Amino acid sequence: MHIFILTGAGISAESGLDTFRNSKSDGLWCRYDPFELATPEAFRINPELVLEFTNELRRRACAARPNPAHLALSDFAKSLVEFASSCTLVTQNVDDLHERAGATNVIHMHGEISKARCTKCEAVQPCRSDLSTSTRCVHCDEVGSMRPHLVWFGEMPLRMDAITKSLSESDLLVTIGTSGTVYPAAGFISDAKNRGIKTCEINLEPAFDKSVVDKSYYGPASECVPMWCRDQLAEIRALMS
Ligand code: OAD
Repeated sequence: MHIFILTGAGISAESGLDTFRNSKSDGLWCRYDPFELATPEAFRINPELVLEFTNELRRRACAARPNPAHLALSDFAKSLVEFASSCTLVTQNVDDLHERAGATNVIHMHGEISKARCTKCEAVQPCRSDLSTSTRCVHCDEVGSMRPHLVWFGEMPLRMDAITKSLSESDLLVTIGTSGTVYPAAGFISDAKNRGIKTCEINLEPAFDKSVVDKSYYGPASECVPMWCRDQLAEIRALMS
């Protein structure tokens, strides 16, 4: 069995990181304008403002700790081996809490806040401290060419070939803590449904139309994800026996 897992900001909410949207209207994009802070044009017009915003996001992401949802997913992925099964973990999150919980081969389709990229030589490098308009690229020595390794609005998500292949080979797709607002990730669940792949949604509240959701767990990720992992392993175990 192959399981495709898509995570969003909701899985990191209980680690203290802001979501972008929520029903209380206090998500990041309710307080800030994404067009001033998360587009290539915004970076060209006001790089200081964009870097200040992303520096703060990086500081918070570095200070956060994985929560029981991240830890359960990492253990779940390891347990699958015993049942000749596997999963692909795709995240829209730019934090590295999945990795710090022990997950490997995580696909960060919207980039990673703890990496920076040189706009001159395109080299990607680790970055855990603030970037400024005078940061030097350690690869090509250019000054002022570094940007966060993030996918901004209007840019192409990363590793779409691997994502599309993995989705097409899956038996089950699970979404965790995503509002299903930003494409292409927002369309994965209906793509899966159209191909006859089973679907499951884990969220505080329903984000997708119930016509595309076969199974659901509604509540905090820190409770629902460990519960889903236990249920799913029990189901696979029963199938194998
Ligand atoms: P959103 O902020 O749009 O949605 C967060 C979802 O998590 C909502 O549906 C909440 O109900 C849910 N949620 C909040 N707290 C939760 C909890 N404790 N347990 C379970 N669920 C919870 O986040 P994404 O869908 O990830 O893109 O946003 C997608 C993209 O929009 C982001 O990657 C980012 C943003 O603009 C870029 O920056 C390109």
